[in-house]
Amino acid sequence: MTKADLIVGIQWGDEGKGKIVDMLSQNYDLVCRSGGGHNAGHTIWVNGVKYALHLIPSGILHPNIINIIGNGVVVNPEALIEEMSQFENLQGRFYISDRAHLNLTHHSLIDQAKERLKGDKAIGTTGKGIGPAYADKISRTGHRVGELLNPKELSENLISDFESNRAYLDALGVKIPSKDELYQKLSSFKEALEPYIADTTQILWSAMDENKKILLEGAQGTLLDIDHGTYPYVTSSNTISAGACTGLGLSPKSIGNVIGILKAYTTRVGNGAFPTQDSGKDGDTMCEVGKEYGTTTGRRRRCGWLDAVAVRYASRLNGVDSYALMKLDVLDGFKSVKICKAYKYKGEIIDYMPSNLDEVTPIYEELDGWDSISGIRNYDDLPQNAKIYIKRIEELTGVRVSIISTSPERSDTILR
Ligand code: IMP
Repeated sequence: MTKADLIVGIQWGDEGKGKIVDMLSQNYDLVCRSGGGHNAGHTIWVNGVKYALHLIPSGILHPNIINIIGNGVVVNPEALIEEMSQFENLQGRFYISDRAHLNLTHHSLIDQAKERLKGDKAIGTTGKGIGPAYADKISRTGHRVGELLNPKELSENLISDFESNRAYLDALGVKIPSKDELYQKLSSFKEALEPYIADTTQILWSAMDENKKILLEGAQGTLLDIDHGTYPYVTSSNTISAGACTGLGLSPKSIGNVIGILKAYTTRVGNGAFPTQDSGKDGDTMCEVGKEYGTTTGRRRRCGWLDAVAVRYASRLNGVDSYALMKLDVLDGFKSVKICKAYKYKGEIIDYMPSNLDEVTPIYEELDGWDSISGIRNYDDLPQNAKIYIKRIEELTGVRVSIISTSPERSDTILR
């Protein structure tokens, strides 16, 4: 039986997973998503055509690959249907788990209202209803994709949920739809999605029994994990590799190679601790050169230096075998580059990530910069200082860098 290879973000998301999944997926028969929702997003260009993906796995761009949205994902039918409209002939190569939970309009409205009420304590969510949808799942008050097949019953159940939460929804200013309005909407979702709703666990297990090659595409990043990230400034799912097991129905023994996607510097969108953030001109340069604006919300990402302490922590949590080092070219032209190798915490020097990052101060090591690596495709052609930077990342984290990305182009990639 084959094992499934996994791609996981090592920082706060936006590490450049899209390029690597797109590049590697041609070697796989199935590409699967296990968690998150339409808060995730990446843009992929193929032959001059732009595709925006939020829920559908990137394997969709290759016609022979089967793509699965697993049970751990929260699915917004409206967003999904719009995304599906970019593609033709999805039948037979795209499936949505009937166990995945629904993320409906009221979830987004609750998310946005709660964020507004939090004021300067807001998490800075994407406003896509992710937290409320997962909260319903965990409270056992959620509804699953399979229920879309009976829109009459689902609309009745939802109306009864709304009635029992009327005071709460009114206080948040969330408008309750009429039963008829809801029924019409759910019926249209059924019509569009029915051919794709399936028991994806069985599809995946059969594929494994047939020795098909499977790639698991992580969403968001490790430091946004609900259990291991910078709580409460996190997303509401398990973004680490273990989440791929629960989110797809795989045993831990089914996971093969784990590739950590690591950006050569750090970014974070939304609020929460970020020890190595650079609020000066270096951070601005990273933002402008790296085009660090969110694909889902357009927000400007906060930027800063590589945090090897956080990266080491994230790599161990995920069981990372090797890194794909992304956007190394964004650091071109810096006179020197910094890596955080330890933290000062409560008067002590520590080399691990504590549960609260608010009180840590980064301790940096400074390395000489390089002129340009943009577009280089052979490791030997890299300038010496870029090689030293890579080597230092490997020494500080204990993980080998096996892929280096030197521009957004698919082919500007070094394989070691
Ligand atoms: P939520 O997932 O919309 O609830 O947002 C919670 C936190 O996760 C916020 O800081 C978001 O900016 C962040 N977040 C969610 N999805 C992504 C992503 O795909 N990339 C980067 N950050 C994300």
